[in-house]
Amino acid sequence: MVSLRCIKCGQEYPLNVVRYRCDCGDLLEVAHDLDKVEVSKKLFNSRLGSLEWPYSSGVWRYKEIILPIDNKFIVSRPEGNTNLYCSAKISKYAGHDNLCLKHEGENPTGSFKDRGMTTGTTAAKMLGAKVVACASTGNTSASMAAYAAMAGMRAVVFIPEGKIAFGKLAQAVAYGARVVQIEGDFDDAMALVQEAAVELDMYLLNSINPFRIEGQKAIGIEAVQQMGWKVPDWFVLPGGNLGNSSALGKAMMELNELGLIDKVPKIAVIQAEGANPFYQYFKGGFKEFRSVKADTLATAIKIGNPVSWRKLEAVMKWCKGTVEQVSEQEIVDAKAIVDAAGIGAEPASCATVAGVKKLVTKGVIKRDESVVGILTGNLLKDPDIVIKYHQGGLEGLRSTFANKMVKIKPTLGEVKKVL
Ligand code: F0G
Repeated sequence: MVSLRCIKCGQEYPLNVVRYRCDCGDLLEVAHDLDKVEVSKKLFNSRLGSLEWPYSSGVWRYKEIILPIDNKFIVSRPEGNTNLYCSAKISKYAGHDNLCLKHEGENPTGSFKDRGMTTGTTAAKMLGAKVVACASTGNTSASMAAYAAMAGMRAVVFIPEGKIAFGKLAQAVAYGARVVQIEGDFDDAMALVQEAAVELDMYLLNSINPFRIEGQKAIGIEAVQQMGWKVPDWFVLPGGNLGNSSALGKAMMELNELGLIDKVPKIAVIQAEGANPFYQYFKGGFKEFRSVKADTLATAIKIGNPVSWRKLEAVMKWCKGTVEQVSEQEIVDAKAIVDAAGIGAEPASCATVAGVKKLVTKGVIKRDESVVGILTGNLLKDPDIVIKYHQGGLEGLRSTFANKMVKIKPTLGEVKKVL
């Protein structure tokens, strides 16, 4: 049996009723009866490279421990099956011997959000929703717009006006979502959409939705499977609304309970200095959670009042992980390195590499420990930052690894000069 369970008081609710929070006010999670689930490494391995619907998806490959649901409800592109890159150039920059990066920017709409959106829209279909809604710093809205279009649902996205990267805004508009720009930041949009969803009968697809988290678990499960079911010493990933890091933790807890892994990986969550409420909470020994007014050029993680902090607190205590913060300079320089290695990712993703570098320097991550970093979004999501960085146009920041474009007159002599 699968149910929704409150993370605080344990109250359970059925899956087939629209509900985002417990009556006590706290968040819900999907609770699996793992004792009764029959899965094995062999079963999951047999589905690798499968052409069979829905197991060709890197989420639904693990269907029994993600969302055991009738296939007729499943909305899938299919997503996942993203690569692990072990780049010598990036490892050298991070001062590490054994760093691999899982590129979630290779998902259908260019970010990890597709993994949560396949399960989110599948739940929406199961529940008979006609309209889906979310607040977003960009990627969630792009992903939701695409999946809603495929499922024949209307999509309404609430975005902070002028504060999301152009590639993401273009996707939401192109996929046909109703784009509502809020005069305010993401946290204002998030508060408003929770109210609007209830009043206007829209199904909410932010990561407060427990079904979203189930799909995002597949990032960690797939990474472990790619490594031959060997668990890395560390997973490192950026934290904004903290849904993704909570999902990774839930995945590892469940794999551990199922006996599919024999070690608990430590999770390091990286926040931008200007959007670091969970970093502060962690440093303060989890005493008092305080929101901040967020500001960072990594707009995907420009979030001051994350919804899932309580879920992540439990994960951090379980895995004995850590939380680090990185500066704007550290983010853009790490991004230049990730991009120039031929891999490329959006700014928030590169907080991962900046974070590994910092944690190795501090001796928290040992050089020889195995590390899987998550690159959460595609390079093309935010081309503006790329051009500004390489042309020396990011205010207050150095373009340490600039690859300056040149302009010449159309003569061979001039070409010779610049080459
Ligand atoms: N990286 C990228 C590229 C993101 O888009 C996000 C979140 C994160 C990291 C952080 O993940 O919120 O689960 O901690 N983007 C959301 C959005 C908030 O609206 O697209 P998180």
